[in-house]
Amino acid sequence: MTARNRKKNLVVLVSGGGSNFAAILESIDRGEINGEVKAVISSNAQAYALTRARERGIPAYVCARKDYESGEARDREILRLLREYNTDYCLFAGYLGIVSSFLIDAYPYRLINIHPALLPKFGGKGFFGIHVHEAVLAAGERESGATVHYVDHGTDTGLIIAQRKTEVLPSDTPQSLQQRILDTIEHKLFPEVVALLCDDRVVVSDGKVLIK
Ligand code: GRF
Repeated sequence: MTARNRKKNLVVLVSGGGSNFAAILESIDRGEINGEVKAVISSNAQAYALTRARERGIPAYVCARKDYESGEARDREILRLLREYNTDYCLFAGYLGIVSSFLIDAYPYRLINIHPALLPKFGGKGFFGIHVHEAVLAAGERESGATVHYVDHGTDTGLIIAQRKTEVLPSDTPQSLQQRILDTIEHKLFPEVVALLCDDRVVVSDGKVLIK
């Protein structure tokens, strides 16, 4: 095997249910992703994502803000773990947390987030969880979707790798829209992008993302 198609080391950051994390594991099981989840880090000790990890024998860590003197101290521990696992890509799968600059700078173009809307719309401070879908409906949008992007120093502002859309239905509630985006878009799009990354098929050139 050449260095080019070496299996990639993935670390997944979570805060909640971890359905995106589960979708990535299933895609790995089907042989679609040339990578392995080496560890899971949660900002929340109650996150069901931790149970999913432990059931699979994946090392699971809790790095909760309240257990550290500052957000930077917590992020120093996350950085230590990313280094310990020789992380190629760190996947933010429903991770709720502000990321320190030094952590972003330590892993340029290697921190990947999924956001449940069509960025740059409905991103930034306050746009997380159900609030995103409430805002989409309140604005009368006719379509929504999900975006996979690199994490940069802003909130939901990093270069977009891929986006996929769905129609907003007249009967939609924030909950139905959230669930449909999770089931029909996020759980497919995130693993697809991770597969492309692990195959070295995503290239950033002149500030643009190219899929080879
Ligand atoms: C997803 O909608 C994701 O886009 C957002 O948070 C939610 C996490 O869901 N960032 P889960 O924990 O993967 O089930």
